[in-house]
Amino acid sequence: MTTAQHKIGSGFGARSTADDVLEGIDLSGKLAIVTGGYSGLGLETTRSLTKAGARVVVPARRPAVAREALDGIEGVETDELDLGDLESVRAFAERFLASGRDVDIVINNAGVMACPETRVGPGWEAQFATNHLGHYALVNRLWPAIEPGGARVVSVSSTGHHASGIRWDDVHWRHGYDKWEAYGQAKTANVLFAVHLDKLGRESGVRAFSLHPGGILTPLQRHLPKEEMVERGWIDENGNLLHPEIFKTPEQGAATQVWAATSPQLVGMGGVYCEDCDIAEPAPADEEMRFGVKDYAVDPEQAARLWELSAELTGVDAFA
Ligand SMILES: NC(=O)c1ccc[n+]([C@@H]2O[C@H](COP(=O)([O-])OP(=O)(O)OC[C@H]3O[C@@H](n4cnc5c(N)ncnc54)[C@H](OP(=O)(O)O)[C@@H]3O)[C@@H](O)[C@H]2O)c1
Repeated sequence: MTTAQHKIGSGFGARSTADDVLEGIDLSGKLAIVTGGYSGLGLETTRSLTKAGARVVVPARRPAVAREALDGIEGVETDELDLGDLESVRAFAERFLASGRDVDIVINNAGVMACPETRVGPGWEAQFATNHLGHYALVNRLWPAIEPGGARVVSVSSTGHHASGIRWDDVHWRHGYDKWEAYGQAKTANVLFAVHLDKLGRESGVRAFSLHPGGILTPLQRHLPKEEMVERGWIDENGNLLHPEIFKTPEQGAATQVWAATSPQLVGMGGVYCEDCDIAEPAPADEEMRFGVKDYAVDPEQAARLWELSAELTGVDAFA
């Protein structure tokens, strides 16, 4: 890490929106790739980046759904990408590289949460494979197009990373699958990925960040039975949000990733985990307190180890 995990006093906060953090920032001429940029936080991210003048490529697992969701937004193009399928990742990256364009912002936003045990590719656990390995392969394959001297790569993690570090002896959950711990491992991997990518990219001026967007009701909760959301105190029996003061709107939820991707306040920094549009503090020792970043998620040694493992599993490493 080049930057300590401490707030910088950005002046933004939990209620800031993506449009707020982009006020006065002109992204004309910039190109962004936003995975999953057609649903929930990704859709708001795409909307705000294009509003500020950027062109946004949205690679989608369901391109027809993406086109419909993005209809009417100027400056967007869609393509096909299934992060759980490395051939699909390769094909998308090759199409992008063949277009001859450079990319200024990559937001690894797509994700799945707390799904029943699911296997993809060669039997990999779906949350680790989709949320981490797919994005790892994507960024490494896109590396020749990632603009040196200013590009940023942003990993959308979660406070869910508190649920688990990397299970080094069983990353694919061959034993004792737990949907929340598996999500936790995948989200820890998102943070470690940014730590190591920042180390590798720093010399060429490419910086990486990770973040927790906040709690926002989106289609991400598709795998959670209503009873579980009621039990967790998120919604009532009729599906109404119980604590709007805790949950964010999608516009607020997209703000931290947009801030990390564009803010001049972060120039010269990288490898840090952010929340509420600022750099996050280290997580308090009290396990009940779900904010801040866990030490294991920003440990440079674990970050290097995860990079090595990911290179081995995916067969891709732009820095080898
Ligand atoms: N919402 C929250 O409270 C919250 C909290 C913490 C972190 N996050 C993180 O924020 C990010 C965005 O979540 P969200 O709430 O906006 O959820 P969302 O609305 O469900 O969006 C997730 C996106 O990821 C895409 N996706 C899923 N599997 C994919 C695959 N195999 N290949 C390509 N794309 C895939 C989905 O595409 P399809 O619709 O086609 O499946 C969708 O576009 C996630 O990384 C999530 O972990 C969210």
